[in-house]
Amino acid sequence: MAKINNAFITLASIFALASAAQSCITINDLNVPGAEILNITSILQTNVSAPAPPPDPAYTGISFCDVTIVLTHPGGNDTVTVEIWLPTTGWNSRFQATGGGGFSSGIGSALLGPAVAQGYSAASTDGGNLGFGFQINPEAFDSDYNVIPGIFEDYIYRSVHDMAVVGKAVTEIYYGKAPSFSYWNGCSTGGRQGVNEAQMYPDDFNGIMAAAPVINLGQDVIAFEWPYIVMNNEKTFPSQCVFNTFLNASIAQCDGLDGVKDGLISNIKDCDFDPYSLVGKQVECDGTSNTISHSVATVYRKILEGPRTPSGEQLWYGLELGVRTNDLYTGDANTATSNGTTIAVPFPVTDEWIKYFLKLDPSYDTSTITYAESAELFAQSVNDMVNSSSNNPDLSPFHKAGGKMIVWHGLSDNIAPPGGTLNYRHRVESLMGGTGAVDDFWRLFFVPGISHCGGGYGPVPTDPLAAIVAWVENGTAPDTLAAQFTDPSGAVVNHDICRYPLVSRHDGKGDPKVASSYTCAESF
Ligand SMILES: *[C@@H]1O[C@H](CO)[C@@H](O)[C@H](O)[C@H]1NC(C)=O
Ligand SMILES: *[C@@H]1O[C@H](CO)[C@@H](O)[C@H](O)[C@H]1NC(C)=O
Ligand SMILES: *[C@@H]1O[C@H](CO)[C@@H](O)[C@H](O)[C@H]1NC(C)=O
Ligand SMILES: *[C@@H]1O[C@H](CO)[C@@H](O)[C@H](O)[C@H]1NC(C)=O
Ligand SMILES: *[C@@H]1O[C@H](CO)[C@@H](O)[C@H](O)[C@H]1NC(C)=O
Ligand SMILES: *[C@@H]1O[C@H](CO)[C@@H](O)[C@H](O)[C@H]1NC(C)=O
Ligand SMILES: *[C@@H]1O[C@H](CO)[C@@H](O)[C@H](O)[C@H]1NC(C)=O
Repeated sequence: MAKINNAFITLASIFALASAAQSCITINDLNVPGAEILNITSILQTNVSAPAPPPDPAYTGISFCDVTIVLTHPGGNDTVTVEIWLPTTGWNSRFQATGGGGFSSGIGSALLGPAVAQGYSAASTDGGNLGFGFQINPEAFDSDYNVIPGIFEDYIYRSVHDMAVVGKAVTEIYYGKAPSFSYWNGCSTGGRQGVNEAQMYPDDFNGIMAAAPVINLGQDVIAFEWPYIVMNNEKTFPSQCVFNTFLNASIAQCDGLDGVKDGLISNIKDCDFDPYSLVGKQVECDGTSNTISHSVATVYRKILEGPRTPSGEQLWYGLELGVRTNDLYTGDANTATSNGTTIAVPFPVTDEWIKYFLKLDPSYDTSTITYAESAELFAQSVNDMVNSSSNNPDLSPFHKAGGKMIVWHGLSDNIAPPGGTLNYRHRVESLMGGTGAVDDFWRLFFVPGISHCGGGYGPVPTDPLAAIVAWVENGTAPDTLAAQFTDPSGAVVNHDICRYPLVSRHDGKGDPKVASSYTCAESF
């Protein structure tokens, strides 16, 4: 009797173990054109929590079938992992692919938890691991520091397309029904991946939500180094507090241009803030009293101007007036102050970019880059990346396929200049018949006060993904994007973000915290 009991207990614990790591899908046949599947595993995740994008709390109590697929591209020297989360109950018949940031293609994205909680089957990919966040992965380079071409292709375009193919197929196998609609959701690198899909694989997604897209890769990434190059060449290193003096003065001057004083510069175009107007001003910063010098004002002006050649020719866009240099993420104009000494700190992604992609020398010292060398590096970057910059303006196949796209970009972005996104928009408009024609399938929203992908100060889009879903599935093209934030006094501020080229204008009388107090106007 005792023996049988023991056997029972043993069997029961084997079952317990098995259910702790229970596979949840059988995949016999998965065909990914151009790729070879190396491995498929699955595990049932029951009542687990998943991180959400800050400041949202983690999503708890979610249950899903967690499928991991490893594949390679013959000759590509790459190993790519795709992970798909399939909600065990309440699938909403939609598929959502999620994007990455920096050098990450997005595996383990914080967008997965919210997606699954809303009933999407959702996917992310490591894109072959070109890098991890801000850091390059040295294993993606050969012994001469040349990037392994297959891994670079994965990062630029291939792995996102594979994820769409794999994610939709696995979704269909699990539920016995193909997803009714497929969506892209991402910011920064994730924004670039989404816009690139519209360019290269117009049938992958019905709807694309791409925020702060780092398109124009050849121009953008090298331009991120410009503030660091300026500070080193001017031998002037303003602390973040000193930068904030300029921010505050520009807000004080230009906040009201849209008809309301709300701490935001919405009308950047008409703001003629002159950094030199602060020269000689005394500011209390970092525990000491500072006088704003001419060279500090020059640094600020050059950061807003963006990269130029030594003779003054503009190469690319700078950060915009109202930029919050010290916000949320380490930005392009980062400095570190300790013991009264301030040093310039480069944006890590770009520092790696210059060392690995342009100089092929991981020990290259970027602090020595002169203005002349900066212009050469810019030209090299644009040339090297001519076919990989995710900025092909021909979106007609995407338009023809019925795709819809929403792009939003914070005007106070401290990493990716909003001017790059506008430049792309203008190129698409010239090719495709102007603003109205492009608005039929792509709407663009610039968000005052908001930094790279979020943060900053001011109302931030609350659910742009819901807006693209409504557009795709109901034909409701968004004229505005609902946005909200809680101001420092604790009051909830609602604002509808106007679509480009319209701008928000206060009606002169309504409560500035209420969205209906504003209209979208042709100009201020
Ligand atoms: C697939 O992955 C699992 C889990 O990592 C591992 O145990 C297994 O050996 C792999 N199979 C193949 C064929 O690589
Ligand atoms: C889910 O997990 C939470 C936290 O671990 C626990 O409190 C709750 O009882 C669990 N629910 C179920 C249905 O297992
Ligand atoms: C790919 O890998 C093979 C074997 O590991 C190696 O001989 C070859 O040089 C690699 N190719 C590239 C482009 O790195
Ligand atoms: C800028 O304004 C903010 C908000 O009012 C304030 O907290 C900060 O101290 C100001 N910074 C400087 C350098 O004046
Ligand atoms: C700051 O200065 C003090 C006194 O000179 C020194 O002991 C300390 O190490 C310094 N701290 C840093 C971070 O440099
Ligand atoms: C870009 O593509 C064109 C046309 O396919 C090709 O001739 C050229 O070599 C490519 N340039 C780079 C830098 O890869
Ligand atoms: C589409 O419109 C219907 C009717 O107004 C509404 O119930 C539904 O929620 C909408 N769906 C989406 C995705 O917006």
